[in-house]
Amino acid sequence: MNLSITPGTNNVGAYINNIDLTNLNNNQATEIKKTLDKFGVIFIKNQNLDPESYQNFAKQIGQPVIYPRLKGLDEKFPYINVIERKPDDKSLSFGSSWLHQDTSYVQTDRPRWTALMGIEIPQGQGNTIFSSGFNAYEKLPNEIKEKIKSATGIFSSAGPIAVTRLEREKEMGIKLSKSMEAEHPIVQTVDGKKTLYVSPGHLIKIKNVNENEAEYLKDYLIEHVNKKEFIFSYEWAKNDICIWDNLSCLHMASEIKKL
Ligand SMILES: [Fe+2]
Repeated sequence: MNLSITPGTNNVGAYINNIDLTNLNNNQATEIKKTLDKFGVIFIKNQNLDPESYQNFAKQIGQPVIYPRLKGLDEKFPYINVIERKPDDKSLSFGSSWLHQDTSYVQTDRPRWTALMGIEIPQGQGNTIFSSGFNAYEKLPNEIKEKIKSATGIFSSAGPIAVTRLEREKEMGIKLSKSMEAEHPIVQTVDGKKTLYVSPGHLIKIKNVNENEAEYLKDYLIEHVNKKEFIFSYEWAKNDICIWDNLSCLHMASEIKKL
């Protein structure tokens, strides 16, 4: 069985058309995972999932885990978090300002995929910006590929994105969490294809490169993944579902538009 697929803008991710996630068989779940491996992020429209079917769907894709930063919906649905921005909230959206790969600061068993569903979308303010790690790696000059082939990144939850996180945690009344740190290779391979794992919001240092070039390479790679040619700014609609592979896709919430 093959799914009906439409690639996203700039060849970032793919839409999966004509599928009902409340009624998914094992073959379809396998196809969804293959599509994720290939494209890094998938967009599925018109899915009206209640918490039960959302959690069941997630279990067909992988083993859900409790997100270390936010409190689950309730006892029955500990894996579902509500990301909400109220009209009078002053600080930036949760996960905005810096492209990142979720939980890169977790050393072992870090979650591979993240799923998000659109519930209420304020007009013109509901975008998520995705950047393709596959495309960004492919377009690197060979000289840079050579320099970073054995590089390791140190990722911290107290990295550059933390200012937004701390503000939002305070605003959402969440207990301020302790920072976490992990090391992972900067170049990862998914399904035989290389991808950039640089999570600019969490990256604090690059190791296993020429020490004199470590800062330069960090800045270079951060600027590189932010280039327009690798970006798809996805405009949400109610009942959309996006799932991304944190190894091959970077993301951030959009900036707030000045009205
Ligand atoms: Fe995120």
